[in-house]
Amino acid sequence: MSLDPHSFMEKMEKRVCLTAEDKSLLKSESNWGKEIASDMADHFYDYLGRDPEMDAIMKEKEGRMHRLRETFIQWFHEMFTGMDDWGDAYADRRWRIGLVHVQIGIGPQHVVPAMATVVNEVGKRVKVDGKPEALRDALSRICMIDLAFIEQAYVEVSSAAVLRETGWTEGLFRRLIKTGADAM
Ligand code: HEM
Repeated sequence: MSLDPHSFMEKMEKRVCLTAEDKSLLKSESNWGKEIASDMADHFYDYLGRDPEMDAIMKEKEGRMHRLRETFIQWFHEMFTGMDDWGDAYADRRWRIGLVHVQIGIGPQHVVPAMATVVNEVGKRVKVDGKPEALRDALSRICMIDLAFIEQAYVEVSSAAVLRETGWTEGLFRRLIKTGADAM
């Protein structure tokens, strides 16, 4: 059940239809992405701060908020540059981000609405700054790939932990999940 970030990236690109045109548009707007990254970070952390549970997580450790702002800005800009043309380095970085969130105990219920905030805010900004609608669509697609990485990390890490602790086979584990879901 161990995920290969590189093939996962390829699969997600196809699944969300991130095209070569999307990539070149994102690259051509990477300076704009850099310019607005700080405003996007403000929206993002205002949003997290309005939720008591997420606010508490962010304030749990000294200096965390500051670090988070910096890493968000970098993450946001990487969506435009694609790092290595959305290749292995991009996939490894996204996988790592997923693992960090699992370690902290941030689950789908936190991450999905948070990514929706990013998509929504960047969409508004595309309009205000007179950028093409195709840019908003490309950004939505790459955000969905990044979201898939974080969500999949949660599933992969939980499953791997259960298998390690119990010694169950993957087949048995899947059957138990199915039986559990049927019983609900
Ligand atoms: C759109 C979804 C999200 C994105 C793109 C994102 C992005 C990031 C990035 C890039 C990092 C740095 C990872 C590293 O150190 O390698 C990070 C860490 C972290 N994120 Fe998120 N995040 C998201 C959602 C959330 C949510 C919903 C929370 C809830 C409070 C959260 C809290 C944290 C915390 C606490 C850390 C670790 C900070 C530290 O102590 O260094 N994130 N995030």
